[in-house]
Amino acid sequence: MIPKIFVTRRIPEAGLSMLMKQCRATIWPDDLPPSREDMLENVPGIQGLLCLLTDPVDAQIIAAAGSNLRVISTYAVGFDNIDVDFASKRQIPVGNTPGVLTETTADLAFALIMAAARRIVEGARFARAGRWLTWSPTLLLGQDVYGATLGIVGMGRIGCAVARRAAGFGMKVIYTDRAQSQNLGAPGAERVTTDELFSRSDFLSLHAPLTDETANMVNRRTLGLMKPTAVLINTARGGMVDHDALYEALKNGELGCAGLDVTDPEPLPSGHCLYDLSNCLIVPHLGSASVQTRDRMATIAARNLLAGLAGERLPHCVNPQIYG
Ligand code: DGY
Repeated sequence: MIPKIFVTRRIPEAGLSMLMKQCRATIWPDDLPPSREDMLENVPGIQGLLCLLTDPVDAQIIAAAGSNLRVISTYAVGFDNIDVDFASKRQIPVGNTPGVLTETTADLAFALIMAAARRIVEGARFARAGRWLTWSPTLLLGQDVYGATLGIVGMGRIGCAVARRAAGFGMKVIYTDRAQSQNLGAPGAERVTTDELFSRSDFLSLHAPLTDETANMVNRRTLGLMKPTAVLINTARGGMVDHDALYEALKNGELGCAGLDVTDPEPLPSGHCLYDLSNCLIVPHLGSASVQTRDRMATIAARNLLAGLAGERLPHCVNPQIYG
C-alpha cells in the first residue's frame, strides 16, 4: 500500500520528487507554517511526517497521528521542536539532517562576526542615506577580527568549522563543550570554563543544541562577565539567549554588539526593541540558506522518511536507541 505522509512545507524539489514517487503526500501549501489546529487536522492516519524546525511536534501531535506513524523526519539538524522522548517511547525513529549544513552555517556565523565587528550593515545604510560626506578618522569604527579571541560554545561539527575559519584570521580560539573527550576538530583551540569563555572572548559564538542545560545560558550574569567591546553571535537557537538581558546589555554599553541569526521568539516580531539598536544585527535564520545546502537537506530528509516507511534504519537518526 502506498504510504500516506504529511509534509509541512514545500521543500526543494530534490527531496520532494523522491517522496512523490513513493508516497501519497499532502504538502502544506502556504509559506507560513501550519498552525497546531492544521497539524492536528492533517496528521491522523499518516505513516510519515516530514516537518520543519518551525513546527512543534509534541506528544499531542504525535499521538494524533495514530499508531500507524512509522517515522518523523525533520528538515533541519536541530530537533528541539520535537518531543523525541515521546516518539522513542512509541518506537518512532526521528531523523535529522546533520553534516550537510555545517560549512554553510559556519560561513554565516563568520559573516555575522565580520559584519557585526566592522559595522557593515550600518555602513551600507549610512552611505545609501547620502550621509557619506567625507572620509573621517572616527567614522563607524568597529573591532578588529584579526588576532582577536573567539569563544565557541559547543565544539561540534559547526563549532569546529567556525574555528577553522578563525585560524585563517589569526584568532585565538577558546571553547566549552559538553563532551569530555578531547577536541580533535580544531587543533590549537583551548578548552576553558564557561565563565572564562564569557570573560575572555572578544567574539562569542554559540553552536550548541538547545537543551535544558543551554537554555538562557547567555543571561544577565554571563553577559555581565563579557567585555564591553565583545560581540555575541548566535546561529544556534534563540532560546540560548535571554533577549531582555541582551537588550539591556547592548543598550547600556555593557556589550559591544550582537549578530543574531536566531531569536526567541522566532520570528522576532516587528517592532521588537532589539530592532531599534544599531549595534544589534538580526537576520532571519539564514544559517543553512544556500541553494546547494537546502537541496542536500531535502534529499537527506526524504531519505530518512523513506527509510522509516520501509522499516529500515534511518541514515541519520537522533534516537537510535529505539533500534536496541
Ligand atoms: C537547523 O537545521 O537546525 C538549522 O537551524 C537550519 O538552518
